[in-house]
Amino acid sequence: MDTGMSQENRQHIADELMRLLADTYAIYLRTQNFHWNLSGVEFYSLHILFEKQYEELAEALDEIAERVRALGFYVDASFSAFQRLSAIKDIDKLMSIQEMVSNLLNGHEKIIREMRVLSAKAEKGNDPATVDLMGRRLNVHEKFAWMLRSQLA
Ligand SMILES: [Fe+2]
Repeated sequence: MDTGMSQENRQHIADELMRLLADTYAIYLRTQNFHWNLSGVEFYSLHILFEKQYEELAEALDEIAERVRALGFYVDASFSAFQRLSAIKDIDKLMSIQEMVSNLLNGHEKIIREMRVLSAKAEKGNDPATVDLMGRRLNVHEKFAWMLRSQLA
């Protein structure tokens, strides 16, 4: 494979993308968990908001994973790999609506911070396709974070 990026550089960016894939999977699952389990006076509007967000995240998973493939690596798409790689750990208690919203907000902000670092690395590594992907994903996560933050105001 010769696309003008060193093997080492491709590997490094693909590893970071695998971590982002795991985090995206974790927040996708968590958003759907909350879509199913929330209750309270704001049930309906948040049930719908969470649905729109997890649907978008499901599509993003495909794009992130396929970027890893385009860089020349296989995707380890197993629960154990995602659990090992994700910085967003499982939660096992039932939460109030406010806790759910701030929990998701924290997750998106964590992903946003990671993507900013990855985007800078991809820029430095002469990988504009990953920079472009990060720009588009940042836009979505920042928008989701704004919508969640507004629920808490
Ligand atoms: Fe549903």
